[in-house]
Amino acid sequence: MSNNTLFSNENEKMKNFRFRMMSFAYKIRDLFKPVTPTSLNKYSINSGDVIIDYGCGPGSYTKTLSHLVGKKGTIYAVDIHPLAIKAVKAKIDKNDLHNVIPVLVNGYSTGIEDQTADKIIAFDMFHMIENPTLFLDELRRLLKRDGKLFIENGHQSRDQAKAKIQSSNIWRIELETDKFMQCTPIF
Ligand SMILES: C[S@@+](CC[C@H](N)C(=O)[O-])C[C@H]1O[C@@H](n2cnc3c(N)ncnc32)[C@H](O)[C@@H]1O
Repeated sequence: MSNNTLFSNENEKMKNFRFRMMSFAYKIRDLFKPVTPTSLNKYSINSGDVIIDYGCGPGSYTKTLSHLVGKKGTIYAVDIHPLAIKAVKAKIDKNDLHNVIPVLVNGYSTGIEDQTADKIIAFDMFHMIENPTLFLDELRRLLKRDGKLFIENGHQSRDQAKAKIQSSNIWRIELETDKFMQCTPIF
């Protein structure tokens, strides 16, 4: 059993009420600022890509990502909260998204195979991570050697987010924008 499986991050799991409030806020956000193929241009997502949406929440990105990668691609929608997985499953059913796999993660061990993903996105969730070392370790395990990680600060400063990534010594930050850091794995 890996350290990632042994580590319990139960505290990161929001209370159901809080999760529902957050989902409601995201619904409003998505109405005013919908996730579209154009809004995802900056992540260079290609048809056939395997994408891991780590901390997918209620699945704001799920449908657009699913369409962008197409029939030959796969989206893993990973979250620690059962209500997130329920919401993603509802989106899959409603929109016939045959290439989306919901994953309820335990600790930081997703159970997804090594070097699966072309890209990992981790949006608005890094601040919630109690053990960045284990988290960043798992992300590197999941990414292909030439893959890219796009990670947002979440509710912490860029300096704080950056320090966590740099002190892991397993990620190189190759590009920074206002919205995210683009990282490649160091082997
Ligand atoms: C604020 S939401 C962001 C949702 C989505 N990424 C977005 O930007 O629309 C953060 C999500 O990260 C999830 N989360 C927090 N810690 C996590 C962990 N260790 N593993 C997986 N998901 C986690 C939460 O359950 C929540 O659904």
